Amino acid sequence: MPGRFYFDHNATTPLAGEVLEAFVSALRETPGNASSIHQFGQNARQKLEQARRQVANLLHAQAKEIVLVSGGTEANNLALLGSVQPGDHVITTAIEHPAVLNPCTRLQELGVEVTIVRPRSDGLVEPEEIRRALRKNTAFISVMHANNETGVIQPVEEISAIAHSAGARMHVDGVQAAGKITVDVQALGVDLYSVSAHKLYAPKGIGALYVRQGVSLRAQMFGGRQERGRRAGTENVPAAVAFGVAAQWAVEHGPQESARVARLRDRLEEKIFALVPGVERNGQARNRLPNTTNLRFQGISGEAMVIALDLRGFAVSSGSACSSGSVEPSHVLLAMGLTADEARSSVRISLGRDNQEPEVDALAEAVAECAAHLRRVSPVYCHA
Ligand SMILES: Cc1ncc(COP(=O)(O)O)c(C=O)c1O
Repeated sequence: MPGRFYFDHNATTPLAGEVLEAFVSALRETPGNASSIHQFGQNARQKLEQARRQVANLLHAQAKEIVLVSGGTEANNLALLGSVQPGDHVITTAIEHPAVLNPCTRLQELGVEVTIVRPRSDGLVEPEEIRRALRKNTAFISVMHANNETGVIQPVEEISAIAHSAGARMHVDGVQAAGKITVDVQALGVDLYSVSAHKLYAPKGIGALYVRQGVSLRAQMFGGRQERGRRAGTENVPAAVAFGVAAQWAVEHGPQESARVARLRDRLEEKIFALVPGVERNGQARNRLPNTTNLRFQGISGEAMVIALDLRGFAVSSGSACSSGSVEPSHVLLAMGLTADEARSSVRISLGRDNQEPEVDALAEAVAECAAHLRRVSPVYCHA
């Protein structure tokens, strides 16, 4: 099956057609600064506020609770650094993205205590483990909604209840969840929720932080009074418009699309398990993102598999995008108790809107061929 096929949607997604159109026309037709009072400015403001409503809708939030930022990384930094002070205690987990773990390291340098809770071997964070980590000065808990590598969905609602019973603020990195599963910040009971547009078919460089009404946040950038004083800098109206259109699409079509993608993902797993011996799934099968599978191939380097598949036209990943390019084993898989060798022999496949059945079947066959070839040439694999 000649061509190039993208199976790395957790790293980023291509722009959807309707998003690209809205983006280009906003670039062309919305030259004004949303803070200006003339017609150009008012037009930009209207477009910006429409986008904010669309993003709010995706999260079941109010428009005024949405702070538009540059992406998931900034949303997480703003949530953490804007909430926590020296002397506070923060709880987070070992499977968080570096966009949470590294701000936590920064907070430690500033005199904040941080407890990092490990997940179970199936990738789930036990709410009881969070409860056990509570201290008198616990002010902030940050747990991701769905893991970028395994897709495992975390019990956010239960953890939010624990946070609030202890008087702590609850933040959720929802970068991988929004657009793939229903997100209702009211039902989840969270105070802060991070989203990134480029994971839902909108451009890179824009995202949002949901800030529950009444939750105060210290701005991390100093300048104008944009975003109700929570994020200075002239707003990127065309990117916001594109984000809004993508959010609207996800509201209207997300559930059907997720069901379609889940069927394809399950078909892919079944075929790979049937064709390839020595394969295990990393992370629990239930309560996972519909588009994600993370597989461990005994005796094969995940990097080698990614390269071999790329040569055949299939783009997959051997870990999160930020850690591929280096041979460091995934911190997520290590935290789940895998050995470094097991973590290094893992591959993440994440499906999306553009994937169809024929290429899913072709990918399964390519995986089988690559596995057989890589094992033939492996000096350590046991050819029993
Ligand atoms: C769970 C998670 N959080 C945060 C980020 C960072 O988001 P952004 O690329 O928009 O900065 C990513 C990106 O891969 C992610 O997967």
